[in-house]
Amino acid sequence: MMKPKHFISLLDLTSDEFRSLISRATDLKNNRDPNFQPLKGQVLAMIFEKSSTRTRISFETGMTHFGGSAIFLSPRDTQLGRGEPLQDSAKVISSMVDGIMLRTFSHETVTTFAKHSSVPVINGLTGLLHPCQLLADMQTYFEHRGDIAGKTVTWVGDGNNMCHSYINAARVLDFKLNIACPEGYKPNQAIVDAAGNHVAFFNSTEQATKNSDLVVTDVWASMGQEEEQKKRELAFKDLQVNAPAMNAANHDALFMHCLPAHRGEEVTSEVIDGPQSVVFDAAENRLHAQKALLELLLTKE
Ligand code: CP
Ligand code: NVA
Repeated sequence: MMKPKHFISLLDLTSDEFRSLISRATDLKNNRDPNFQPLKGQVLAMIFEKSSTRTRISFETGMTHFGGSAIFLSPRDTQLGRGEPLQDSAKVISSMVDGIMLRTFSHETVTTFAKHSSVPVINGLTGLLHPCQLLADMQTYFEHRGDIAGKTVTWVGDGNNMCHSYINAARVLDFKLNIACPEGYKPNQAIVDAAGNHVAFFNSTEQATKNSDLVVTDVWASMGQEEEQKKRELAFKDLQVNAPAMNAANHDALFMHCLPAHRGEEVTSEVIDGPQSVVFDAAENRLHAQKALLELLLTKE
């Protein structure tokens, strides 16, 4: 079977590959065998330009479960922060390790690394995309409700990296994505256009969540946008996932948020800590979904 070399975007996966990753992730979760070490002796380099709790711990734990190890690298402590060219860094690092995961501000940093790396490169979040989170979110939806094809998902809030990855997931897994997003914060037009009629825009949260099977939101100011917090609070004040928004959705709708969350801003505690919320299942599934991804990308034939 052909497999993707890198995982930069969900569009690197076919719909069959995405679905088999999900079912493999659930299998690894339910039938953990400590003697199963398909990545024995392998090393994953992890470069973090931004903070992380879930991504770092899930990749590091996943590599350890599989008999390998992970190295945490930050630009501050490597020559990357002193301007060593990305191209040289990618060649050097990939000559010593078996895979490279990056979390960066610019998406181009990850695509440049992939171009010059001799080993698989994984996108652990860029300003544009956050595909690993979608592996976990979709695994969580499938586990609770079955296949998402033909379902309706609503994105409430910023047209950010998570929103872009939901748009791509809608294409690959064939669901409908309703988006409620203020003017000036709309998702990337090229990503929207490529999704055709998988995506529709709405003016209010309740219009968007109507008949929805899954409601998703994210912080109003992403990492690197902290100084825009006040301005964004004004722009997004009517886009909160609260009880009326969830009541407009289907009665069995789920709620997700990639975390960390700001209770009282994009979501009320009533919703995120309520019975429809599966945010902690999805957080745990980062581990299982990425183990399936590491197995797919790093095991040698
Ligand atoms: N959701 C997510 O990627 O979390 P971290 O920033 O903690 O890795
Ligand atoms: N949109 C958020 C996601 C954090 C996991 C950010 O980029 O900061």
